[in-house]
Amino acid sequence: MLPTASFTALLVLAVSVVAKPIVVRDSFVTLPFAKKLNVTGALDLVHKDQARAQAVRTHGSAKANARAQGRSANSAAVTSIGVTNVAQVYVASVGVGSPATSYSLLIDTGSSNTWLGAGKAYVETSTSTKTSNSVAVEYGSGSFSGTEYTDTVTLGSGLTITNQSIGVANSSAGLTGFDGILGLGPTYLTRKTLSPDTTSEIPTVTDNLSSQGTIPTDLVAVSYEPTTSSSVTNGELTFGGTDSSKYTGSITYTGITGTSPANEFWGIDQSISYGTGTNILSSTAGIVDSGTVLILIATDAFTRYKNATGAVTDGTIGLLRITSAQFSNLKSLFFTTGGTTFELTANAQLWPRSLNSYIGGSASNIYLVINDLGWNTGNGLDFMNGYTFLERFYSVFDTTNKRVGLATTSFTNATSN
Ligand SMILES: *[C@@H]1O[C@H](CO)[C@@H](O)[C@H](O)[C@H]1NC(C)=O
Ligand SMILES: *[C@@H]1O[C@H](CO)[C@@H](O)[C@H](O)[C@H]1NC(C)=O
Ligand SMILES: *[C@@H]1O[C@H](CO)[C@@H](O)[C@H](O)[C@H]1NC(C)=O
Ligand SMILES: *[C@@H]1O[C@H](CO)[C@@H](O)[C@H](O)[C@H]1NC(C)=O
Ligand SMILES: *[C@@H]1O[C@H](CO)[C@@H](O)[C@H](O)[C@H]1NC(C)=O
Ligand SMILES: *[C@@H]1O[C@H](CO)[C@@H](O)[C@H](O)[C@H]1NC(C)=O
Repeated sequence: MLPTASFTALLVLAVSVVAKPIVVRDSFVTLPFAKKLNVTGALDLVHKDQARAQAVRTHGSAKANARAQGRSANSAAVTSIGVTNVAQVYVASVGVGSPATSYSLLIDTGSSNTWLGAGKAYVETSTSTKTSNSVAVEYGSGSFSGTEYTDTVTLGSGLTITNQSIGVANSSAGLTGFDGILGLGPTYLTRKTLSPDTTSEIPTVTDNLSSQGTIPTDLVAVSYEPTTSSSVTNGELTFGGTDSSKYTGSITYTGITGTSPANEFWGIDQSISYGTGTNILSSTAGIVDSGTVLILIATDAFTRYKNATGAVTDGTIGLLRITSAQFSNLKSLFFTTGGTTFELTANAQLWPRSLNSYIGGSASNIYLVINDLGWNTGNGLDFMNGYTFLERFYSVFDTTNKRVGLATTSFTNATSN
């Protein structure tokens, strides 16, 4: 068995402050957010990412099977997907009620229910209205259940949404280190999460900002930066528009894939090659997911990547490992989507070396953030571009036009890892 002592050390590192006031620029609004590092070991990280991937796939299949059999998907089945207590999370501070109590919510583009109560208890105020619905969501290796409320939600210090539907957990499992989730996925994922109302979808925060006329377009854009232990990092959510100070060049938009189950999420078609044309993944469907840490690719693609790089799986922490000679030869990975190729540099494929010890690794080793999805291509969900990808590329989740945007940033070629 693997030694457990090396990855039981607990680390909590808040690398940012979210107290900055919200910026209202033209007709869109931005919300800065923080990264919290709470690592119990990389093996845990890999397993959590894979559990999430499995849940995402199962979720889609359950619905597809139900449709094929002419019945609605069972409300008791897995109904939506989110993150569990992954090693590192990005959280935003969100106010609820009037006066507002602030909650630290995990930013998740892979699930769509917004809820709180896992950490800090819900503080009811005069704006809090309990609905007649209960709510329950099953995640990869966690879940919550409770009661659906409507309340005033405040993003940053000034932007308010009235009558936002939110879940208030009275029980949750496997979710620690934050108070709840800010669900930024497609609204469809909220179906069947309420009871007895099993037919309504729940408008997301972005939907309500749009329907209340606060923002002109129903979209949210996400900016991350690569981080190391010592640098302070601010992420930024922009509702209703994109922040041109956060990306370079132009944004490539690609329509949501037609392939199930990826099409229930922020799913896109993408191919991946290594160096000068070594095929890793032929064009196929997968998802862009801020709730996943690593870049997970189908097993056959992962095998090709291992072969191309010479990497071996580290038995202790579960990440791929390369030697410094192999790192000198490590080529870029090229992700092609929507007719544009995005270059993930050799440095961007590394786990930040300054954070090796935090995941139970050796400080002198070189670990990679590409990992195994757990099944071969052809399953309708053949990759998950987690936030290690999003730390290098600006991303836009556009409900109005049913598309995902990606752009390079000033950190795309950073050598911070
Ligand atoms: C938790 O919420 C559910 C759904 O609203 C409700 O049925 C249950 O009674 C609540 N449990 C507690 C202990 O409050
Ligand atoms: C909120 O919803 C309730 C009922 O759903 C309605 O009576 C109230 O006017 C709404 N308030 C606002 C500010 O939209
Ligand atoms: C906000 O969303 C709720 C449901 O969550 C909906 O009932 C309400 O009409 C929305 N408010 C506006 C103004 O769009
Ligand atoms: C870190 O994670 C552990 C378990 O994974 C949890 O018990 C703890 O509350 C978390 N700490 C913070 C500050 O998030
Ligand atoms: C492994 O890589 C070598 C070149 O480095 C290539 O010739 C070989 O076909 C690859 N094998 C597989 C199974 O991809
Ligand atoms: C990154 O570097 C490559 C050359 O290695 C260059 O072609 C590309 O334009 C750079 N990208 C950005 C966003 O600076």
